[in-house]
Parts: sequence; structure tokens; C-alpha cells
Amino acid sequence: MHPHQRQTVSVSTTATRYPGHSSISSCLAVPATMRILPEAKNGFTNLTGIDYSPSAIQLSEKVREKEGVSNIKLLVEDFLAPSAELLGFHICIDKGTFDAVSLNPDNAVGKRKQYVRSLCSVLKPEGFFLITSCNWTKEELLNEFREGFEIVEELPTPKFCFGGRIGNSVTALVFQRKK
Ligand SMILES: C[S@@+](CC[C@H](N)C(=O)[O-])C[C@H]1O[C@@H](n2cnc3c(N)ncnc32)[C@H](O)[C@@H]1O
Repeated sequence: MHPHQRQTVSVSTTATRYPGHSSISSCLAVPATMRILPEAKNGFTNLTGIDYSPSAIQLSEKVREKEGVSNIKLLVEDFLAPSAELLGFHICIDKGTFDAVSLNPDNAVGKRKQYVRSLCSVLKPEGFFLITSCNWTKEELLNEFREGFEIVEELPTPKFCFGGRIGNSVTALVFQRKK
């Protein structure tokens, strides 16, 4: 198999730093297509974008058409109950979906745990998980994904200074699923 034919799901960040894999895309109010356009235009194949909102997927379909990219599959899927179609991905990309799951007023702790279980089920062993979060710090994300995942790197994000201390308004991390 050509490396770029491997599968990717974007749950969103960019996987182009991880050539030799393709991704799975999930979960995008800003349409799924937008989040994996860099991959779609850089030789990745088997790209899948998901969102549980049909209107988000319809919007994604319009962007896909406008951009003229044919190698992105778009699916209405609840990531907390993934269908059998979401299996065997090499890269999973999330921007804002784990945040949305975390803010669910109904059993947020249980839903975060289910998210990690879903991630383990869609991602191949040693697959990469790229997450961008506006809600969680690096330390908090390390704790959430400690079972089953190891940190590979922290991606640079904008910094701000408040009360003499420097912080990040966004956290972007790359994890690898353990064998
Ligand atoms: C904060 S928005 C994501 C924004 C987008 N990634 C971006 O960068 O602008 C969260 C998205 O996650 C989707 N979402 C939330 N929970 C989900 C779930 N369990 N399964 C699939 N999609 C989900 C929402 O429909 C929404 O489109």
C-alpha cells in the first residue's frame, strides 16, 4: 500500500507534519472538509470527516465541491458511538470536538471516557492523535489521555501575558496510541 493510501480520520489540526499516514476527520462546525483540506491537497487519501450534525456535514459537502476535492468521505457519525465504518485509521485529528464533548452538561466525565474509548477503537495501534483544545491545558490533556496514549510533541500556539505570567490560549498536542 502506498503510504498516502492509509486511512485518516480527523476528529482536526493538521496531519501534513506526519507524512506517510493519512487521516480520519471528525466533528466540525467549521466544516469537516475545511479541517482536512491541507491533507486532501497534499496527497493523503482515505480521508474521512465526521460530525453528528447533519447540517455541518451538508456544509462540508458544499466546501468539498467548491474546493474540487474528491478524496474526502463525509459521514454523519456520533463519535461517542462510532459505526463499523470508522475503523483502522492511522491518524485522528480533533479541533474542538473533545472540548464540545467535555462541556456536555449530561455526564461530561463519562462522555470524556467514552471519547477515549472511541478513539482507541477507530485508531490503529501506534496511530497518531492530533488534538487542538481551547478548554484544556497540556497537563489536563495528558491526564485525560494517559491511558492508552503517549505524548509525541506539543505544537506551537499563540501565547499571551496576563498578570505577569505567560500562558497559551490554545493547546495543540500530538499523541501516539500505545501498541
Ligand atoms: C467546537 S465545534 C468544532 C469546531 C471545528 N472543528 C472548528 O475548528 O471550527 C465542535 C463540533 O463537534 C461536533 N460534535 C460534538 N460532539 C460530537 C460527537 N459526539 N460526535 C460527532 N461530532 C460531535 C459538533 O457538532 C460541532 O460541529
